[in-house]
Amino acid sequence: MNARPLLEVRDLRVDFALEDRTVEAVRGVSFEVAEGETVAIVGESGSGKSVTALALTRLLPVPPARFTGGSIRFQGEDVLAMNAAALRRLRGGKIAYIFQEPSTSLNPVFTVHSQIAEAIRLHRPDVTDVGAEVARWLDAVGIVDAAKRMHDYPHQLSGGMQQRVMIAMALACQPDVLVADEPTTALDVTIQAQIMDLLASLKERFGMAVILITHNFGIVSGFAGRVLVMYRGKIVEQGPTGEVLSCPQHAYTRALIECIPKLGSKEPRLKTIDHAALAEGA
Ligand SMILES: Nc1ncnc2c1ncn2[C@@H]1O[C@H](COP(=O)(O)OP(=O)(O)O)[C@@H](O)[C@H]1O
Ligand SMILES: [Mg+2]
Repeated sequence: MNARPLLEVRDLRVDFALEDRTVEAVRGVSFEVAEGETVAIVGESGSGKSVTALALTRLLPVPPARFTGGSIRFQGEDVLAMNAAALRRLRGGKIAYIFQEPSTSLNPVFTVHSQIAEAIRLHRPDVTDVGAEVARWLDAVGIVDAAKRMHDYPHQLSGGMQQRVMIAMALACQPDVLVADEPTTALDVTIQAQIMDLLASLKERFGMAVILITHNFGIVSGFAGRVLVMYRGKIVEQGPTGEVLSCPQHAYTRALIECIPKLGSKEPRLKTIDHAALAEGA
């Protein structure tokens, strides 16, 4: 048995060297993800969640981004030392992403079918019947009438359908890790719940690890076994989701939990957080 985690991030540091200043986006982040595990990264906007996520496969623009310290290991391999060919295999094939805005990730000039087919050809050259495989994944993500809809262009689909297509495209490459970066933030509340249910059932069915990134603690409980709380580029708290929710140790975590929308109320903004007080402790 291999006890080594699938993904190991150690003391990762990433900054952006801008013309007039340096933004320290990730300031010493360490975490692990085991095979098939679901981990949530929670933190308000700007806390460094997406930079951490993109760093996993070096999808950050270098420059201005700089990896200034630490290490990332995937299946024991040093990601920061990988050559271009190894990175291409890693991206999509082993670690796949879905993002907040499916409309910006889908190419408007190609049909749904051709985009998923392209991803399959790139990452699974052994698949002979690509068309059948596309249909299978569209069906798996609950696209009704998949045979017809796959000839649609992205703009012909609703936001929720576009996100299902993105999920199909990500999973069709059979990744070991799915990184879902604010996957429901751009969607209506009812559609949000449908997409989270879909992700939960796909996870159950296909067994990949999931890193769920969100500013909304509300969608974490019941989905992720473990949660990391990020604040200003650092992980300020981590633990089993139930424990963190019932007994948060850090004031920032408590503030985030207080922002979980109550049933039927409108989602409150995070502006109630007292940053001056928190920064003293961070
Ligand atoms: N391409 C970039 N150039 C300059 N600064 C960036 C870039 N991407 C992210 N940042 C900065 O890094 C910090 C963390 O951003 P990000 O990881 O996107 O936050 P989050 O996903 O938690 O909302 C922010 O201060 C953001 O402005
Ligand atoms: Mg983000």
